[in-house]
Amino acid sequence: MCSIACDVKDALRQTVVTLREGQATPGINESYQTAGRVESYVATQEIVVPKDALFGKIIDVLMNETAPPRRSIRILEPGMGPAAFTRFVLRKPFLDRFDEIHVQGADISHGMLVYAAEVIHALYQSNVDGQRITIALSSGINCVNVLDPFYGAIRSQGRRFDAVVASQFEHYCPNSHGSSLACKYREHGIPYSTKAEFRRMCHDLLEEGGVYFTLDDRFGESPEEYERICRAWDSYVVRQFTDDAVLHQLHSSNPALARNLRLTYDRQRPRQALLRVAAQAREHRREICREEIEPLSVTRRDLVALFGEENVQCMMHPSIETHPGFYLMWAFKRN
Ligand SMILES: C[S@@+](CC[C@H](N)C(=O)[O-])C[C@H]1O[C@@H](n2cnc3c(N)ncnc32)[C@H](O)[C@@H]1O
Repeated sequence: MCSIACDVKDALRQTVVTLREGQATPGINESYQTAGRVESYVATQEIVVPKDALFGKIIDVLMNETAPPRRSIRILEPGMGPAAFTRFVLRKPFLDRFDEIHVQGADISHGMLVYAAEVIHALYQSNVDGQRITIALSSGINCVNVLDPFYGAIRSQGRRFDAVVASQFEHYCPNSHGSSLACKYREHGIPYSTKAEFRRMCHDLLEEGGVYFTLDDRFGESPEEYERICRAWDSYVVRQFTDDAVLHQLHSSNPALARNLRLTYDRQRPRQALLRVAAQAREHRREICREEIEPLSVTRRDLVALFGEENVQCMMHPSIETHPGFYLMWAFKRN
């Protein structure tokens, strides 16, 4: 692993955000590795899964509910991606609440973290005024594997966090050692940990009073409920990708992608055909990204076993008709 200067143009960036490039093990998750993939992820994420309200809730919990009231905070973000959540950390009111903020981000994709470093640097320049901020990013890390040397180094240095934010990340951890995702990882010789093992490690890395957050898609409590969740998602995707205003805005940041979506979701085609396109795209993404989700009751049971019944909370996506399958769950580590 080597420290790289991510297009460093001034000394300031080097001190605020350091990006360490690691060699990604082939086959782990190649779907977000190229610059083109990163750009299309960033361009479409907010259109198809708006997460701002849920990120806002995380910020609110960290500002108001972490005990004891403190002026410094350390956050770990496995599978950080393009700093979608970190944007909220480097903004008011969070910046007014803490004098010292440390974020440790990790991802398999170097491209994602290069993008994240750019976003963080821009926010730092416009928003930060006097707070001590350190952002350490490490790419090429298989965050799914609790035995990865990245976590080993954290443990051996005795580092602990006030928050772990797993945003759309747990779905890369198999539901169990016998699940189909676990079989795929074994077939490809990729070390992995299950969701339960990953959560246990996050629990152990938290300070007393720290909080574990997970945002993700859920499998329904029954196949019928899952079917309803998928239908709601597909029709939202079709609505967004056939909306002139949405495509027009996308065109300004990524014209090729906007053109492609106009063709794929051609409004001349019957609605049923467009819904099938969305369903195929959803399943294709799950397959190539190696995703596996579970019912919310299972996530909750697991977190309750680790953190205790009274310390686990849940918030559904505020737009329940369009995103009934998306949730935020958080758990406090309290004695
Ligand atoms: C769906 S994106 C979510 C990114 C970000 N957390 C967000 O909320 O927008 C998933 C991220 O996890 C990363 N990822 C996938 N598998 C991984 C693995 N095994 N280890 C580390 N990162 C991984 C991807 O590169 C991508 O950046």
